[in-house]
This record gives sequence, C-alpha cells and structure tokens, in this order.
Amino acid sequence: MCGIVGYVGDRNAVPVLLQGLKKLEYRGYDSAGVAVYSETDGEVVVCKAKGRVENLENKLYDHPVKGRLGIGHTRWATHGVPSDVNAHPHFSSSGEVAVVHNGIIENYMEIKEILQSKGYEFVSETDTETVAQLIEYYYNDCGDITDAVFRALEKIDGSYALGIICRDFPDRMIAAKKNGPLIVGLGEGENFIASDMTAILKYTRNTYVLEDDEVAVIYKDDVKIFNLDRQEISKEVYVVNWSIEAAEKSGYDHFMLKEIFEQPKVVSDNLNHRFKADGTGVYLDGIKLDREVLKSINKIYVVACGTAYYAGLVGKFLIEKIVRIPVNSDVASEFRYKDPLIDENTLVLAISQSGETADTLEAVRLAKRRGAKVLAIVNVVGSTIAREAGDVLYTMAGPEISVASTKAFSAQVTAMFLLTLHIAMESGRMSLEEFREIKHEMELLPSHINAILSQAPIVKRFMEKYIDSKNVFYIGRGLDYIVCREGSLKLKEIAYLHSEPYAAGELKHGPIALIEPSTLVIGVATQQELFTKTLSNIKEVKARGARVLMIAMEGSTETKEFADDYIFIPRTHPILTPLLANIPQQLFAYYMAVGLGNDVDKPRNLAKSVTVE
Ligand code: F6R
Repeated sequence: MCGIVGYVGDRNAVPVLLQGLKKLEYRGYDSAGVAVYSETDGEVVVCKAKGRVENLENKLYDHPVKGRLGIGHTRWATHGVPSDVNAHPHFSSSGEVAVVHNGIIENYMEIKEILQSKGYEFVSETDTETVAQLIEYYYNDCGDITDAVFRALEKIDGSYALGIICRDFPDRMIAAKKNGPLIVGLGEGENFIASDMTAILKYTRNTYVLEDDEVAVIYKDDVKIFNLDRQEISKEVYVVNWSIEAAEKSGYDHFMLKEIFEQPKVVSDNLNHRFKADGTGVYLDGIKLDREVLKSINKIYVVACGTAYYAGLVGKFLIEKIVRIPVNSDVASEFRYKDPLIDENTLVLAISQSGETADTLEAVRLAKRRGAKVLAIVNVVGSTIAREAGDVLYTMAGPEISVASTKAFSAQVTAMFLLTLHIAMESGRMSLEEFREIKHEMELLPSHINAILSQAPIVKRFMEKYIDSKNVFYIGRGLDYIVCREGSLKLKEIAYLHSEPYAAGELKHGPIALIEPSTLVIGVATQQELFTKTLSNIKEVKARGARVLMIAMEGSTETKEFADDYIFIPRTHPILTPLLANIPQQLFAYYMAVGLGNDVDKPRNLAKSVTVE
C-alpha cells in the first residue's frame, strides 16, 4: 500500500532513502517524502512532494539535506488527498517526532480530538499525524522515546508498519509492526528498515522479519527487538536469496514486460524437483496433504483477491473435474464477512503473491479460527500469510515489481496444476498413465511459453489495429472463461479500457446488446470439446459487426476462417491451456497500455500490495 524505508549509519541517508523509495514506488506513488536528522541544524528536516519520487528528488536537489539518520515514505492515499501536506513523514507539533506509516489507524479521530482538546494542532488530514502527536504527547511526559512509542502503541487500534525518529535521539530509529509488512535490514555499522527487501537489497541480504506486535529499536551497530510487554526477544536472521538483477529492469522497457518474459523460467523453477523421482506423484515441500489427511477433508475452499483469485479458480475447476471434491470459491473480501460454511473438514487454499493482502490474510485467520486446514500458496517468502497459514507452498516467481501481476499468476496456476495432480494421485483419482501423460506435457510448458512469447511482435501489431477500442469483451467457456476474466482484469488495470469477461454461452442473455459494429471481442477457445460451442458464440458477435481476435489451439482452420485476427498457442493437454492462453492476453494488455501512453508499471489508483481493506 505504502512503502517505508529507513536508515541509520555513517552514509548520507538521503541517497539511500531515495534509492529505496524508487524501488518501493510500486507500493504507492501519489506522494513521497523523507525526514532526516541534520547534525548541522540539530533538527529533523522534512522534505515532501506530491507525485512520484522523482519530484521529491528534484526538490531535494534544489534544497539539499544531509544526515546519517532518516526515514522515507512513498504513499498510496487512504486518509486525505495526495498533497505535499498529507505526504509522509508527519511531524509532531514541536517537530520533535517524525513518523512514516503504512496501514490505517482506525481510532485516529478519537485520539485526535483528545489531543486537540489538549492544544495540539494538526495540519494534515491523515491518521498518521495522530501517531506522531501521540508519541510526542507521551514523550513530553516521560522523556524517553522508546517508552513514548510503547505507550502510544497501547492506544492505537488498526494496522501499522511504523518508522519513527526523534530529534533528541539521533542515534536510533524505532520500528513497529501490526498487520503491515516491515523488515529490519542488518548491515555492518549501518542498519535499515523497509517494507520489502527490494529497497535495501543493494546493501544487505540479512534481515529480521518483524512479526505483529514487535517493536525494534535500531542503532547503527545494534538492533533490539521487543514484544509489546517490553520484553526483549531474540530473532533469527533471515537471509534473502534474491539477486539484485531480479529487482532491476535489465534492459526491458518496463518491469511488466521483463516479468512476462521471465515466465518460462518461473514455470520451470516451479516444476523442478516437484515430481517424485520414480514418476509416481508430486512432491510438495513436505506439505501434510497425504491420503490420511485427504480422507478427513470433504470440502475445499479457494480464497484470494484479483489475479490470485483467478489462479484459484483454475484450481477449483481442475480439482472438481479430476478429483470430484466440491470446491467453493470466494474473493477474500466477501469470504471474511459472509460466515462461510467451513469447519475442521475443510481445506482452505489461500493464494497471494505478496502474502500481505489484508482481505486474504483475514480470510486465513477466520479459516484457522474455525479449525479449517489452511494451505497458503504465496510468492513472498516469510510474508504474513505464509507465516500464519498452517502450510505454505511457495511459488518461486522471484520479486514481482510491476503492479499488474503476470509471472506470479503463471506460478500460481502451475501450483494449482501440481496441487490437483497431488490430490488426484493421493486419493486414487488418477491413473499412473494419465499422471505421466500430464507430467510430460507440463514439462513442455516452458518451451511452449517461449514459443508464444516469440509472437510478441504480432500482438504488438494487434495493438496498433485495435488501439481505438472503447469496449472490449472477452468470451470463453470452462477454463477459457477463467482465462478471459484474468485477461479482462489486466486490460482494465493498465490500459484503463472498459472490458467485460463473459461466459460465451451467457452473452446472448443480455450483454450481446452491447455489441455494435467495431466492438472488439477477444474469444478464447482452447478446449477442443467446447470449441464449436464457443465458435458459434463468436459467429453471433461477428454477425453484429464485432471485430474478433481469437486465442486458439495451433492449426485450428475454423479460427483462421472466422476470426479477424488470431494467435495460436501450442497444443497441450486440455487442463494446461490456461497457462498458455493467458500469455497473449498479458502481451495484448501490455502493448495497449504502452500504445495509450499509460504508466504500465504503476497504473493509476493502484498499488501492488493491498494491505488495507
Ligand atoms: C492484478 C493484481 C491484483 C492482485 C491482488 C491480490 O494484476 O495484481 O489483482 O492479484 O491485489 O494480490 P496478492 O496476490 O498479493 O494477494
């Protein structure tokens, strides 16, 4: 949602903070700011700017600030419009305390009114300013910044990752976490805080991953971690294995394009070591989902948000089709408030790239409270969902920086294939012969994705032809319909084009009224047994003047005959097509966004990690 970075050491903090903020900009990009302790002035100096980190950088160029302690923030607005004044860091009234915050303080109005009645004046519309003022209020009483932070945390309700510095304590910063990601980076003679590893990867790979209700007091040579009872606790150092290149664009115009092109490797990494050496099943990192456990499960529930949800729907479709266990599905924001029918005989699959999505996290917590078995399928190692779920299957996609999810989806779908095969084999629902056939086809997926990616120039030409589209329909049946939902989401979020995914057979029950001459319809038809049905729906829209772009199986002569344009995917087992059919859709959305002049990696109004409701 927002990005936080902090530094204490011997370097000038400002470039460290700016570089970190640039890496975190995908988390929020409507304003940015830094607060640095200036030794010359003996003051904490703040610089903030509406808009991108670049604006802040320009401002700092005109008004340089120097210091060896600082905190920085890139914002995705929740309270108050994006503006210089609402940007973080926020100061307390006397300028004593500066705070950066990711999350939402739910009782801030109540606290604000109390502080106002005591004479505190507020300048912003944010909840975060209340935290700075509250800390100062306690600091004035006790004279110790750590004590003041603990006392403030006792009064605050809501979610937070906080970075705090204080004018009177220029040797330290304080970090606190509840329901928002925050790590402490451990350097030599310098230490950091960050919302995620990408911000500080240049300096260190050693981290403490803060848990909820932990407070860290960070000096340049020491880090002390406490629980809310103020007892010091010891933590294991977690060493990150990402390479720096993984968090760089490496010559691509955008992270999204780079991540699309990384998919052959991502799928191959997810398949490596997953098949048992004797070819009789799938190995899932010691996840406890064997024959005995499966016997106790009578229902599976898929919960997730956005793209991760669509990956989950692929899992639902396949498990029901192959294993014949009923699978319910809900977007996490509905699941958590609907009193879902789950109990100790339910397996909940929670899917999340970031592992921090607030709704998915709450769904996991609810499922656990009800005694359900929770398996999280997560990309970010050590994230909150990964830690809180009973079991976790990591998707190994590497850092996904572009806001629009691409390679994480492919990794999640691959995980769904593996999970389906695993459950099918453990419950005796799949023959060894069929398993081996699918396994063979899965091993070909990376080269099939490469073959599709080599058609990127063709997709780019489609963009040039269809760039004038105002409404786009995606239609398909069965698994293809799920692919359509993901394709339509991608086009909306980065091309800002209105688009509707529709089950092809449902079109004639209303939405076909919206088809007019030149409406673009993207037809996905990879399922042989449904092909003629989908084709007849395509003929219906063509008859009403629509332009049709089809994604179909290699060699389909009818596609060539009826579509205005088409892109073929290599032939594969029918259950595996979602992974392949989605790739041209990603490319199409990408080129449309570029063609329309949009900021592909940081689309308007969006943030990568949605850690608020
Ligand atoms: C779409 C997209 C979002 C996320 C959703 C869930 O491209 O990125 O729809 O998929 O916000 O995020 P995670 O997977 O981090 O839980």
